[in-house]
Amino acid sequence: MGKYDEVFRRSISDPEGFWGEAAENIDWYKKWDKVLDDSNKPIYRWFSGAEMNTCYNAVDRHVEKGRGDQTAIIYDSPVTDTIQKITYRELLDKVSKFAGVLKSLGVSKGDTIIIYMPMVPQAAIAMLACARLGAVHSVVFGGFAPHELAIRIDDAKPKVIVTASGAIEGKKLIEYKPMVNKAIEIAKHKPDKCVVYQRPIVKADMVDGRDHDWDDVIANAEPAQCVPVQATDPLYILYTSGTTGTPKGIVRDNGGHAVALRWSFENIYNVKPGEVYWSASDVGWVVGHSYIIYGPLLTGCTTIIFEGKPVGTPDPGAFWRVISEHGAKVLFTAPTAFRAIKRDDPDGEYLKKYDLSGFKYLFLAGERLDPDTYHWASKLLNRPVIDHWWQTETGWPITANCMGIEEFSIKPGSSTKPVPGFDVQILNNDGNPVEAGTEGLVAVKLPLPPGTLPTLWQAEQRFLESYINPFPGYYFTSDGGYIDEDGYVYVMGRVDDVINVAGHRLSTGEMEEIIATHKDVAECAVFGVEDGLKGQVPVGLVVLKTGIDKGEEELQQDLVKMIRGEIGAIACFKQAVIVKRLPKTRSGKILRGTMRKIADSKKYSVPSTIDDPAILDEVKEALKKMGYAKENV
Ligand code: COA
Ligand code: AMP
Repeated sequence: MGKYDEVFRRSISDPEGFWGEAAENIDWYKKWDKVLDDSNKPIYRWFSGAEMNTCYNAVDRHVEKGRGDQTAIIYDSPVTDTIQKITYRELLDKVSKFAGVLKSLGVSKGDTIIIYMPMVPQAAIAMLACARLGAVHSVVFGGFAPHELAIRIDDAKPKVIVTASGAIEGKKLIEYKPMVNKAIEIAKHKPDKCVVYQRPIVKADMVDGRDHDWDDVIANAEPAQCVPVQATDPLYILYTSGTTGTPKGIVRDNGGHAVALRWSFENIYNVKPGEVYWSASDVGWVVGHSYIIYGPLLTGCTTIIFEGKPVGTPDPGAFWRVISEHGAKVLFTAPTAFRAIKRDDPDGEYLKKYDLSGFKYLFLAGERLDPDTYHWASKLLNRPVIDHWWQTETGWPITANCMGIEEFSIKPGSSTKPVPGFDVQILNNDGNPVEAGTEGLVAVKLPLPPGTLPTLWQAEQRFLESYINPFPGYYFTSDGGYIDEDGYVYVMGRVDDVINVAGHRLSTGEMEEIIATHKDVAECAVFGVEDGLKGQVPVGLVVLKTGIDKGEEELQQDLVKMIRGEIGAIACFKQAVIVKRLPKTRSGKILRGTMRKIADSKKYSVPSTIDDPAILDEVKEALKKMGYAKENV
């Protein structure tokens, strides 16, 4: 039996022994009563009865154990021409002072805080300060519009919002504070206070009595100590797109999360304490939470906070410059970033300028790694290019080529094998496992390992309905795929209305809800079509109300504006056409999947339940007008 088989089998046959041992790498104030608490199945809890503090494990203990002078965070910002290094000792000072600020604003254990910040170290400091007090942070991606922020404010009901005056996104200056003001205005819940980090690039106007300047309050702060929390207490809420306009508040607990991330660091990424690790994502996404902030810091590594883009800041050599300048052993990013680099520098000329001798692995996730991008990156870099699959819900990878356990040969298109702890199965629509090589629905046998979502924020019923009830005994991932004869997993894409645009997870259902509010729209369908750079982009098909004679161009402009205003520019919603009717089943279900196949010029069969097959020809014509449905299908 190979090393991987041995480790994997033990993780499934003896999860308590396996994770109990992994938990030795975390410092506890009080050990657990039970490693795996299954007293409330199908909701499982890890390390019940244990007490710890995530911030202590990510910061204080490294200073106490001799890493005080090691760099914890490298802030590399080509857009502001800044490089700043923060040691673990300095980080401890900043985090405990900011925790003191929050405390002085009335924050205590169990309170919620929203963090709406760009890629600056203050975002990490705010997250860790919340963890220090046992407060629950909810970071909202800075690319979301005020409406999206307001939805999260109303659900999380934060006592305080921590934000910055603005950011430079590529070459554009984005002011954050007006968006925060607007979101608070729209939201029903009003936070007591805002702390605003004023950046030299733009100055925010402050609201008297509510808003505090980060620098002022931190200058007078009393450092706060770590507050012990239950391992099962929430560390954070991270909202992610579901199939409707109401995002899902994924809950992450403290203890299981720390154990899983610490374990994943050495076993999946093969990164040891003291090494430099870089995840070029954003703190607003799960990758940012797990592998910019918590994973590297829990392990005692140096992490890089990069405020830039793979291209244009200033050129497609940006990633190679950062890896070489800071000595990163691993880069983790989304395939779309590599497609952007390939577009601008197909022959890898920029790579030749840098010494990448310390760089060992490229890890990619967030969307399917298409074989073309895999081959290009692999040839260019001449080192392992590792596709690994995960979700906001799981918080860490479900399938990967675990570099710290046993390296497998790569099969392009597959994210290799299940990570220990995840018993991945392919089910048919009836919930029965299918044979190797047969495509079906990807599910994970319960219990999920530590670090994965125990529930949704104050929505346990929705948690059960979305993930557990569809196939009792399993966690349903909403992805489709197959496992081949060698046990390699191929994840082919979502089976619901969630799409991935440039590594950003978005809900087409939410876009439809927004479009439906346009005064001239009777009904609409939004679905994702293939895009060479961004993986997928949304397109809309719209039926106008009877008697409305509106120009397509004008309608499209209205809808683009609405989606940008409500969700944000990241939705990349740019195309909509008017059709007379939408294809539906006799029971009224819109055939989005069939339309997607037509748009992508893929084979499709006319569903036997279709109301009127002729509508598909009309749809094909409409999609052709947008530049899709090119070949004969
Ligand atoms: N704040 C505000 N606006 C943002 C934003 C942010 N944080 N991020 C993106 N946007 C805006 C962009 O400016 C753009 O606006 P525009 O339509 O007015 O030009 C729009 O949202 C679309 O952005 P994006 O999809 O990122 O396209 P792009 O052409 O600017 O960049 C890539 C393309 C591939 C370079 C970029 O998407 C990228 O780096 N992707 C990687 C994403 C990633 O790492 N995801 C994490 C998953 S691991
Ligand atoms: P997010 O929650 O934003 O991380 O998005 C999760 C979704 O992204 C998954 O359900 C998949 O559809 C997709 N995804 C992420 N990583 C991969 C991957 N390596 N291969 C295929 N799909 C992926």
